[in-house]
Amino acid sequence: MKNGGQVPEGYIFACTSKSERECFDRMLFATSRVYGENVLKIKRGDVLFLLNLDTDTLYGTFLARSNGAKDIVPEAWKGRYPYQVQVSHNGKIYSVEGAKKVLSMMRISWHDMLNEEMTQLLSRYIENPNGSLKIARKNAEKKLRLETTTLWDYPRQNYGKTQKGSNKYAGVTPAFVIYNMIKRYTEPGDLVLDPMAGSGTTIDVCKEEGRRCIAYDISPTRPDITQNDARKIPLADASAEMIFIDSPYGDNINYNDHPDNIGHISAETDQFYKELEKVMIECYRVLKPGKVVGWLIGDQWVKKKFTPVGFRVYECLCKYFDTVDIVCVARRSQTSNTAIWHSRALRFNFYLRGFKYLFIMRKMVHELPVERKINWTQYSRT
Ligand SMILES: C[S@@+](CC[C@H](N)C(=O)[O-])C[C@H]1O[C@@H](n2cnc3c(N)ncnc32)[C@H](O)[C@@H]1O
Repeated sequence: MKNGGQVPEGYIFACTSKSERECFDRMLFATSRVYGENVLKIKRGDVLFLLNLDTDTLYGTFLARSNGAKDIVPEAWKGRYPYQVQVSHNGKIYSVEGAKKVLSMMRISWHDMLNEEMTQLLSRYIENPNGSLKIARKNAEKKLRLETTTLWDYPRQNYGKTQKGSNKYAGVTPAFVIYNMIKRYTEPGDLVLDPMAGSGTTIDVCKEEGRRCIAYDISPTRPDITQNDARKIPLADASAEMIFIDSPYGDNINYNDHPDNIGHISAETDQFYKELEKVMIECYRVLKPGKVVGWLIGDQWVKKKFTPVGFRVYECLCKYFDTVDIVCVARRSQTSNTAIWHSRALRFNFYLRGFKYLFIMRKMVHELPVERKINWTQYSRT
């Protein structure tokens, strides 16, 4: 039993051949910010494993000697892995090779918290790799993964057991987009701002992931969204750690009848971009330097006319922010994703919108040097 009499859970830390020595020398396991939250859930007495990703070897078992915390030893691994836990041996340390295959057969992922049943199964396996592999029922549940490429695709608006935002709200944001943004660019407790919150998807994702959230909309749909025009945000300069914004893409959706709704202005007019630029200037002001805004937007094709809304919005964002990356988010659940629209697209020779842009932009801390010197490594082709 760990402190408070709870049942111990398990966690697998990863290392490379380069970082393994320091894990054992310091008896400290650690991870980067992306998986930091899981480490903060580790309690003294939990069972830990260490996976060397290079040699594909799993070591275990260890016991958490401290709760998971940030910067227990700030200088370890030169500060690269700040989420840490102190560990001790739990009897003899065993190792198994070919670990990734074993974990995949047990449907375990090294950065997930293991429940009691999985922890016991893995501990037993590592002690006796010749025994049979068992798969825990509960662990078979599909987990949401962080995207690693610039093509983000998820079949549904929602994920997990609780509803995020409302999929009845026209123009609702796919929740996994916000999940990926806050996991990558914020830490637990950080303040996330959504100036055009709609049905509140950002609020719900933030709540589940332990981030604070301030949400505004010109026409609030729920009590935790405050009525406000995104062109004048009532926050102090440099107060938010991240902004997520899924703005109107033009006048294609009638969100509400509020006269200041930017979604009443056509994306074919310059006025639309001028109003969005006012929102960008406010986002720039309230964002902390070095922090990120994620702006989701799609192009328009109406009555045989294409409007590159994304390019125009991006051009404007570049006046204020530095580009981190541009992501293509697959559109799956829009109303035109029906057999009749697909058949019209072929009959009248046009394309349905298949993706949105997610512009990931950073408020600069310093001006970039005018010219960067890059030393490319040339790899030979085999
Ligand atoms: C694409 S929706 C946001 C969807 C939201 N992320 C969700 O998941 O439900 C765009 C929102 O911008 C809001 N909006 C339009 N003009 C605005 C303005 N001037 N200030 C604040 N919000 C505005 C609309 O009311 C609408 O809810």
